[in-house]
Amino acid sequence: MKRGFKVAVCGKGGVGKTLIAGTLARLLARRGFKVLAIDVDSNPNLHSTLGIAIETPLKPLAYNEELVEERTGARPGGWGLFFSLNPRVDDIPDKFSLVSPEGVRLLVVGMPKAGLGCLCPQNALVKSLVDHIVLARNEVVVLDMEAGLEHFGRGTAKGVDYLLIVMEPTIKSLETARRSITLVRELGIGRVWGILNKVRSDEEVEFINRKSRDLGIDIVSTIPYDDNVVTAEMAGVSILDYDSNSPFVSAVSRLCDILLKDWYGDVPY
Ligand SMILES: Nc1ncnc2c1ncn2[C@@H]1O[C@H](COP(=O)(O)OP(=O)(O)OP(=O)(O)O)[C@@H](O)[C@H]1O
Ligand SMILES: [Mg+2]
Repeated sequence: MKRGFKVAVCGKGGVGKTLIAGTLARLLARRGFKVLAIDVDSNPNLHSTLGIAIETPLKPLAYNEELVEERTGARPGGWGLFFSLNPRVDDIPDKFSLVSPEGVRLLVVGMPKAGLGCLCPQNALVKSLVDHIVLARNEVVVLDMEAGLEHFGRGTAKGVDYLLIVMEPTIKSLETARRSITLVRELGIGRVWGILNKVRSDEEVEFINRKSRDLGIDIVSTIPYDDNVVTAEMAGVSILDYDSNSPFVSAVSRLCDILLKDWYGDVPY
């Protein structure tokens, strides 16, 4: 029996990683999957896209100093210390996650605290979680990564099955994709897919397709710029709660179909 899959969403700052990761997680939950969403951003905001009230206290893993020390041998901020790179993680999703209205479990890794020091031990905990978590057929992990490239150096997403590199139609986001792909190949992640977000014209699609082909990245999903996203944000709700038939949600739903078809083939999941 095939296990479930792990997918990480990365890319330049502001390209739409969190909105895509959160919407994908919810759509998978609506299709009956048990979803663990991991917010790896040090400025976490995945919870609101998942439909968890924005003011909810997040209890990041980084603040659970006893747990981090018990599992890794180092207190958060204990830079310069040796810590275990292979800590026990199996109970963490159940014990330390928030649960969204649709049942998506959310694990928030951490925010810096003034003077806390480096977050290496808890990042090791998450890397180990992603590497070693054993998934049943109907279980999925979705990681919302921090903008930029630093997480590649840490190898947080090394254990994923899919890496989605989100781009918008700008040269700068392509440049981030170019730098990412080099690092991704070194990490040995198998399926690396380009996602083009905030598209307003066919010319933009043609332009990015051409450029990304040169980089060896296939664009598997094109998501339009959608004014409903902006309106939903101003209304303080996530786009899925605002309009589940909006162009944005329809495009992420198609991406969800593509992922499921690629992973499970024609076998029912
Ligand atoms: N397809 C879209 N149409 C319109 N607005 C969008 C679209 N996708 C994302 N946005 C908007 O772009 C902004 C950035 O989105 P989001 O926070 O998901 O990006 P991010 O890549 O996670 O950012 P960060 O790098 O800060 O984590 C948000 O205001 C979001 O609502
Ligand atoms: Mg984000």
